[in-house]
Amino acid sequence: MDLHDIQRGVLSPRPSPYAATYVLFRIDDRAHGRELMRRAASVVTSAADTLSPLGETWVSVAVTYQGLRALGVPQSALDTFAWEFRQGMAARATALGDIGPSSPEHWEQPLGGPDVHVVLTALAPDTALLEAAIDRARPAFRQLSGVTAIWRQECHALPTETEPFGYRDGISHPAVEGSDVPGSNPREQPLKAGEFVLGQPDELGGVQTTEPDVLGRNGSYVAFRKLRQDVAAFRRFLEQNSDGPDDAELLAAKLMGRWRSGAPLALAPERDDPALGADRTRNNVFGYACDDPGGFVTPGGCHIRRANPRDAAVAGEPRLHRMIRRGTAYGPLLPDGVTVDDGADRGLMFAFVGAHLGRQFEFAQSQWLNDGVFFGAGDARDPIAATGDGPHDYTIPRRPVRRRLRDLPGFVTTRGGEYAFLPSLSALRWLGALTD
Ligand code: HEM
Repeated sequence: MDLHDIQRGVLSPRPSPYAATYVLFRIDDRAHGRELMRRAASVVTSAADTLSPLGETWVSVAVTYQGLRALGVPQSALDTFAWEFRQGMAARATALGDIGPSSPEHWEQPLGGPDVHVVLTALAPDTALLEAAIDRARPAFRQLSGVTAIWRQECHALPTETEPFGYRDGISHPAVEGSDVPGSNPREQPLKAGEFVLGQPDELGGVQTTEPDVLGRNGSYVAFRKLRQDVAAFRRFLEQNSDGPDDAELLAAKLMGRWRSGAPLALAPERDDPALGADRTRNNVFGYACDDPGGFVTPGGCHIRRANPRDAAVAGEPRLHRMIRRGTAYGPLLPDGVTVDDGADRGLMFAFVGAHLGRQFEFAQSQWLNDGVFFGAGDARDPIAATGDGPHDYTIPRRPVRRRLRDLPGFVTTRGGEYAFLPSLSALRWLGALTD
């Protein structure tokens, strides 16, 4: 893999802790848009570089289908991009389960609309460093009057990497052949680079290309989603369905597949083990096939087993639906113990990175999170991350009788999102050099 040409945000894990910001831009003047691409090429760090040109601030730049059009990329080239990307996320709402309160008509503006052209993500070890970097970049943007910032979302990752429901996040990620980044589960064979980067062979032996080749090669697709989490409702649910705090924590673990400390049920079936949860060398070293085919320890329907069934016997081939995933919390934390909603908007800025929007992101979202047929559970949905309309049931395998939880409310609502393309550094320069 040409790590010097791949944006660092694709393969390299993020620092911890960090503050991040998402800024969306609209391009009204293609000359200014192209200048933005040229400037981006000089500040975006490659996967081979450990130092950022902006000191301790790391930037990645992605462009939507509408953005490529606004930059004047010829239609013949646009037509060689993935079909889902050309549709845009809002057009894929029904397939993604973005219905009812999650449907695009309720999305935060301008998310899902035609004005979202460029998605810039910047992250730094803390808010002060991030703001200083943004202040330094402002004059450069002012010169580009044909490019307008239309939306901004601040996010953060705590030192504990806790997401708003209180679980440690950022644990499991795949190994990618040819990258310097080891996977977190040594039991998983590294995936072919073409699963994550265009222009490289993938698990099926195919190579995705675009016309011209330089535009797509070493780039990746991303799916950004702003997911609101109803933390108070989640806490009430745990309280109302348990016999006290210890039982509530066990229920929380049975919904996620991990204790809130990050310790997986697979390795800590009876009680939490916070030291294990925090230990990156141990907290992801497990499968399901040998020890727990029936899901009596880690339920087949819990979030992590759905999102990555690993070696479990399920319909299909799990390796074809793996993803690189970044979750960053947004909004204020709900103070511990509070079970009444304070009205604040909080949740996760979720980002998928991969080479196959359809068979990776859309498949996982629609078949694994929002359905249960793949492991024999009918239309049961993910108890943590499902979107969709109306309550649903959740089954915890147990001896002598399973436990069935009825009428789980949805705890997550989609507030908006978009598909974008993270071009290689050469492609950013190519976009910057376009002429009419
Ligand atoms: C607000 C919604 C969500 C929350 C709170 C959430 C939370 C979590 C947490 C706490 C973990 C365990 C930590 C880890 O392994 O890194 C996890 C794992 C994971 N999540 Fe989510 N997630 C959400 C949405 C999604 C969505 C929409 C997808 C994909 C479409 C997804 C895919 C995954 C995957 C692939 C894993 C790793 C599973 C494994 O390898 O064991 N998550 N998530």
